[in-house]
Amino acid sequence: MLPYFFEVYGNPSSSHHFGRQAEMATESARESISRVLNCSPEEIVFTSGGSESDNLALRGAALSPRKTGKHLVTSPLEHEAIGKTVDQLVETLGYTASRLRVDTYGSIQPDDLSGACQPETRIVSVMYANNEVGTIQPLAQLSAITRVKDVLFHTDAVQAGGQLTLDVQALGVDLLSLSAHKFYGPKGVGVLYIRKGIDLLPSQTGGSHESNRRAGTHNTPGIVGMARALELAYEEFDHWTAQYRSRRDQLIEGVLSHVDGARLTGHPDQRLPSHASFVIEGVESNTLLMHLDMKGVAASSGSACKTGNPEPSGVLLALGYSEDEALGSLRLTVGRQTTEADIDYTVMVLVEAVEKVRRLRQVRVS
Ligand SMILES: Cc1ncc(COP(=O)(O)O)c(C=O)c1O
Repeated sequence: MLPYFFEVYGNPSSSHHFGRQAEMATESARESISRVLNCSPEEIVFTSGGSESDNLALRGAALSPRKTGKHLVTSPLEHEAIGKTVDQLVETLGYTASRLRVDTYGSIQPDDLSGACQPETRIVSVMYANNEVGTIQPLAQLSAITRVKDVLFHTDAVQAGGQLTLDVQALGVDLLSLSAHKFYGPKGVGVLYIRKGIDLLPSQTGGSHESNRRAGTHNTPGIVGMARALELAYEEFDHWTAQYRSRRDQLIEGVLSHVDGARLTGHPDQRLPSHASFVIEGVESNTLLMHLDMKGVAASSGSACKTGNPEPSGVLLALGYSEDEALGSLRLTVGRQTTEADIDYTVMVLVEAVEKVRRLRQVRVS
């Protein structure tokens, strides 16, 4: 990325040679991304990240003047970039939305999607893999249904970048969102794949950048960095995903056998290679996260903490967990640098932290 800050700093939309150099870099990035997605470069639109891609896909399809119908289909697993966009369309523009049922693993059944699509359905948006519980959805089976019903299919593939295939032909999707920082690229840059022939109403209007699909001067260093990160992730795909799986399984095994009252959430094998998630009985996860952080373990939970009152994750509630269970959620992911020794250390620290949090809770109760 560095040369594109200091040497090739032209605006890719300018016609002079500084601009043309930068344009060559962005177009070569577009080509390399399209190779990973198995699509043509014109089907790639650069955005500022996953949220923008999700917004452009959903709102752009819902408001496109080319289509009619005001019904949307989505799932209770979606990231807020989809969830809140759906809410906005429903609350302010008179759309209706169906949310698909999920089982206790967080999997969607293709038959349910078939039943949910109506003649007025504009778009179905189902995420590829969930950020809180790691469950992977059967996208090819789901998109086969929407194709027959002539409904657009969007997937938020933000969590899948670098970990699952992004071949849009094999997945059968019409729209796919990515965010560079999930596959070791820079933050604040992403992609929306838009299958040829699909007309979205642009969310951001202005200049004619990205063939009138997304206005705004390109973030050349970010785009170059994203393309290289994606290329590397897929060149070394087998190596890294095998390593993630091995560390993840060590972690799941360690937590389930050493932490009393811990249960795995999400699907046992249809889950992201790097992802381990649990509910732990008798702990409040935000307190647990603080204790883990003090020991150098960076973890997260599914619950949001609003003015000191933790709120359970909607995803876990949709999977059938009680509020109390959902408040004890923990998400741990492994990365390229994670070693076997790191996993052993994490399990040891987690056992201690859980005991400490439970003791504190008992003191508070008595
Ligand atoms: C599944 C999913 N979708 C969308 C986003 C939003 O991406 P960004 O932060 O790049 O806007 C995230 C971010 O973590 C995510 O996990």
